[in-house]
Amino acid sequence: MRLQALTTLTTAAFAAAAPFKARQEEPKVPNVTVIATGGTIAGVGSTFDTTGYKAGVRPIVDILGDIPDIETRANVSTIQYSNLASEAIVSTDMVAIAKLVNNLLCAPDADQDGVVITQGTDTTEETAFLLDSLINCNKPVVVTASMRPGTAVSPDGPGNLLDAITLAGSETAKDRGAMVVLNDKIQSAFYTSKMQANNMNAFSEENAEIGGFLNYEPYFYYTASQPFFKKTFNLDETLKKNDTALPKVDVIYGSQDFDTNLLIAAVAASDAKGIVIQGVGEGSIPTFAEDTINSIVEQGIPVVVSAKPVYGAAAPKEDASEASYIKSGFVKAAQAKIYLELALANDYSMDDIRTLFEGDLRSSIFHQ
Ligand SMILES: *[C@@H]1O[C@H](CO)[C@@H](O)[C@H](O)[C@H]1NC(C)=O
Ligand SMILES: *[C@@H]1O[C@H](CO)[C@@H](O)[C@H](O)[C@H]1NC(C)=O
Ligand SMILES: *[C@@H]1O[C@H](CO)[C@@H](O)[C@H](O)[C@H]1NC(C)=O
Repeated sequence: MRLQALTTLTTAAFAAAAPFKARQEEPKVPNVTVIATGGTIAGVGSTFDTTGYKAGVRPIVDILGDIPDIETRANVSTIQYSNLASEAIVSTDMVAIAKLVNNLLCAPDADQDGVVITQGTDTTEETAFLLDSLINCNKPVVVTASMRPGTAVSPDGPGNLLDAITLAGSETAKDRGAMVVLNDKIQSAFYTSKMQANNMNAFSEENAEIGGFLNYEPYFYYTASQPFFKKTFNLDETLKKNDTALPKVDVIYGSQDFDTNLLIAAVAASDAKGIVIQGVGEGSIPTFAEDTINSIVEQGIPVVVSAKPVYGAAAPKEDASEASYIKSGFVKAAQAKIYLELALANDYSMDDIRTLFEGDLRSSIFHQ
């Protein structure tokens, strides 16, 4: 009896609500564009294959088909920019993608609320860092990827993509810089790096995590803010001289028996306009390499030294004139390459480049 009364009441409530609902317009969902470049998220292999599969096969519209009801979260448009493994993505691709994202989000007539880029995890941190530096109109830019191909027993791609699309359309994601989404975590593009080569917890740098997802809906640990050490560049100014490529910067890996001939070859044979050395430890350079570095800097070619451990900073020296090379602070080698390319494209002087990398950390710790 009671049950029946309740049923009647519920039916009545629905009956009362229905005409009201019918008068409502369609719920407004955000416009989100997904730019697909390939990667494992578009990978295809056999059921048990999580290493030898082929990356960059499935078109993005197929992958979206794995997410039922996606249209209730966003009005998704797609651009299939390429279908490549991320080790095959080069910096001219990143420049082209930055231009696309800038048009979609920051042009005067832009009607997109957010953009998602799908790509392989191997260079996700580089794409995200470049976009973080160049796209400055407060709308969400989200890079996502997967560690398992779509053909695996429990692929992570569709869930990551749903998280990323929801985040890109979310008001709460504005004014936070570019973000990387994998494994139900939101990471700041400035700080994140790939830390794990195989499992799904691939991105987990200690300063990077700013939020997560429940029900594929984002939440944040902090109010909207930008990384303190982050720098931005104007896209049009950056591409004024060359709108397809950034100046060439080579990265050299530090280890015992560091060979200074590699520095000389980077300038002479490879025509590098700047060099990043991933120094050992917190960016240490052996005394025997200093003369070579000094002579390269004297030719007007900046040398930036980053730390080898993923966690922590390559700290500047208290006296900036103590070394000809520049320490990269919290910016890691692959990202220091991008800042240096951007600085060179913007005609930064050697002093400007030193300030870019060292300025904020120097003033924080030495009060200069
Ligand atoms: C989505 O784009 C359409 C077409 O430009 C526009 O009319 C609409 O207002 C946009 N919606 C949102 C939520 O931005
Ligand atoms: C969905 O996005 C497309 C492409 O931007 C746009 O033309 C269309 O108007 C949008 N639909 C709505 C309901 O906003
Ligand atoms: C831009 O740089 C690339 C790579 O160095 C070069 O191939 C291209 O010719 C340059 N374009 C212009 C307009 O200078």
